Amino acid sequence: MSGFHSLAVARVEPLTGQACAVHFAVPAELRDEYAFAPGQHLTLRLPAGDQEERRTYSICSTPADLAERGALRIGVKRIPNGLFSGWLTGELQPGAAIEVMTPAGRFGTPVAPANERHVCCLAAGSGITPVLSIVTSILRAEPASRVTLMYGNRTSNDVMFLEELADLKNSYPSRFTLLHVLSAEPQLSDLLTGRIDEDKITILLDGLCKDADEWYLCGPLGLVSTARAALVAGGVPAAAVHSELFYVGDEPPELAAPAPPEHAATERSQVTVTLSGRTSTIPVGYTGPSILDAVLASRPDAPYACKGGVCGTCRAMVTAGSVSMTRNYALEPEELAAGLVLACQSHPVTPEVSLRFQ
Ligand SMILES: Cc1cc2nc3c(=O)[nH]c(=O)nc-3n(C[C@H](O)[C@H](O)[C@H](O)COP(=O)(O)OP(=O)(O)OC[C@H]3O[C@@H](n4cnc5c(N)ncnc54)[C@H](O)[C@@H]3O)c2cc1C
Ligand code: FES
Repeated sequence: MSGFHSLAVARVEPLTGQACAVHFAVPAELRDEYAFAPGQHLTLRLPAGDQEERRTYSICSTPADLAERGALRIGVKRIPNGLFSGWLTGELQPGAAIEVMTPAGRFGTPVAPANERHVCCLAAGSGITPVLSIVTSILRAEPASRVTLMYGNRTSNDVMFLEELADLKNSYPSRFTLLHVLSAEPQLSDLLTGRIDEDKITILLDGLCKDADEWYLCGPLGLVSTARAALVAGGVPAAAVHSELFYVGDEPPELAAPAPPEHAATERSQVTVTLSGRTSTIPVGYTGPSILDAVLASRPDAPYACKGGVCGTCRAMVTAGSVSMTRNYALEPEELAAGLVLACQSHPVTPEVSLRFQ
């Protein structure tokens, strides 16, 4: 179960004019708790008056770095007027301590030395962070696997982890294909110039990635939805395409939720939640605050980060009754079919609902 610990910042490493890597030192007694699969993320929290603010950052180091040296790293790109990204890239100093949640997230892949696969990745901007962990982990730990990465940026000055990617290319020349695509800097080939769009993805699918077993996508909503549609239209099974989003815009479209029941305005559903082995029953309105917000009032340990349906930290299994969700950018169709929901986007539909946080 998720929980926060205070981790010391060992190093702040500039990557580009707008981005840095933050290295955490994980003490030996916490290493099991921070064990992760490549692609997972961390949630950081900061006090903000009598409240707190949380943001999620993908881990860009490997499980081996943590096991061998207690090293855990995130990569952060500054957003104009961004509270966390401005602080992390502009003010944070080594020696500081930050409250960091144990790793979470379903994006990514377990790595096993016996695997023999071709993994293709598409990333743009800061979307490289989970992909770097996936790529590095597979190349180092799976001697029979290959990786192809297409990475989009505006210019070469914006490329996060430029040298590290070049080092990987030099270390694994026959197993790692790296394609830098730049939108504001002409390159020798058309494939490498412009934005990663449907045409470039189709060229990859018909050529270098014809035999891909799995696809990992991370970048803005436009890239991820275009890529997913192009891959599925090109014959890739939907279950082989995995994606992670960092941000979907300030007002992303809402799902079409069923109308609340007639008694919605006056009555409340009895929502029973199980969290860390403890069960609580909380009355929750059919409209108004989400189940997560209602639960947090009495169970402040309920896991969450973005409250926007993007990060997936608040995943919960519906074990009785039903809920409707306002939006979902985190759960895949098979997870929805299995009964998972995002508590931050959920409202009760039935008089009784039971949820188990994951
Ligand atoms: C699963 C997940 C993993 C993530 N991993 C990373 C990562 O590895 N590296 C990384 O740099 N970021 C990552 N993010 C994004 C990160 O959590 C923050 O959203 C981002 O750093 C902005 O936070 P802020 O406090 O600086 O900006 P805020 O103060 O929250 O926002 C400032 C303004 O920028 C807008 N905005 C917020 N986020 C973005 C964005 N990402 N792009 C454009 N505009 C935005 C807001 O709407 C607002 O107008 C991840 C997010 C998720 C959900
Ligand atoms: S808290 Fe991020 S999806 Fe619910």
